[in-house]
Amino acid sequence: MALKIKQIGPCFVGEVNDIDLTKPLLADDVAAVHTGMDEYAVLVFRGRKLDNDQHLAFTRQLGPIEQAIGTSLRAATDYRLTTDFADVSNLDKEEKPFARDDRRRLFAIGNQLWHSDSSFKATPAKYSLLHAHSIPSKGGNTEFADMRAAYDALDDDMKRQVEGLICEHSQLYSRGKIGFSDFTDEERERFKSVRQVLLRTHPVTGRKSLYLSSHAGSIQGWPVPEANIFLQNLLEHATQRRFVYAHEWRVGDLLMWDNRQTMHRARPFPVEERRDMRRTTLAGDGPTVP
Ligand code: OGA
Ligand code: MN
Repeated sequence: MALKIKQIGPCFVGEVNDIDLTKPLLADDVAAVHTGMDEYAVLVFRGRKLDNDQHLAFTRQLGPIEQAIGTSLRAATDYRLTTDFADVSNLDKEEKPFARDDRRRLFAIGNQLWHSDSSFKATPAKYSLLHAHSIPSKGGNTEFADMRAAYDALDDDMKRQVEGLICEHSQLYSRGKIGFSDFTDEERERFKSVRQVLLRTHPVTGRKSLYLSSHAGSIQGWPVPEANIFLQNLLEHATQRRFVYAHEWRVGDLLMWDNRQTMHRARPFPVEERRDMRRTTLAGDGPTVP
C-alpha cells in the first residue's frame, strides 16, 4: 500500500498519518516508508507515544541499527538508556537535568550546530528516528535543511569545486567551534577524525547532495583556514530559510530523517527544564570514501 504523505516543508519533509507504528509492518509498508524517505528526506509521525521497545521494533524493521557506544561524554556506567538508543535528552541517570556547567551538557549542546548524525564515524548513519518523551515549555525546536536543494542551487562553478573533495570529520572539530576543548587523551583518541566525501549521490534516486556537517574540520590537500572558510560559506548557503523546515515538538512526535540528504540542529531551551528525546539510528551501508 502506498503511504499517504503530505508535504509540510519548503522543498522536503512529509507528514505521514495512516500507519500504526506499534504493529509489525507489512513488507509493502516498509517499502513505502523507504520510498517516502527517498523523496521527502524527513518524515513526521505526530503524537505516537511509543515506548522504547516499540520505537526499537519499528526501527529494526527498516534495517540494521547503529549502536550508541562511546560517542558522547557519558561513561558506560552513566547511561540512562541502552546502547540501542542515542540519549539526546539533557537528563542524567536519575532523570535530572544536567547542571549548566556539566561537561556532558556542554558537549551535548554541540547538537545545536548544523550537522549530520555520525558523520564522525567511518560508516556514517543512514536514518535517525527521534522520539519526544517530554519537551520544554519553550524553545527546543529541531531544524532540518535539505542538502539536495542546497546542491541544486549552487552555480556550475561551485558544483565543479565540490566534486571529489574529501573532508575530515570529528567531534573534536564541532566542539572546537563552540570553544569546548578540554578533552582527555582517551577522548581525543576515541574521537579521532574520519574521511567523508563532500558530494554524495543517493543510491536510489541518483540525486546529488552536499554532505556537510559541523563535524567537518578540514579538506584533504587544503590549508585548514581556507577549508574552514569554504565549508562555512557552503553551510551558510545550505541553511538559508528556503531550504529549512523547523519542527515544533509535541510529546509523542517521531521524526525520521535521512542523514545522507539533510542536516539538522537543535535549538536552545531553558537549562533547568527537562527535554527527554530518544533516538534510534539506522546504520549506513559503508564508508563514503572508497
Ligand atoms: C539528534 C539531534 C536534535 C534535537 O537527535 O541527532 O541532533 O533537537 N537532535 O535534539
Ligand atoms: Mn543529530
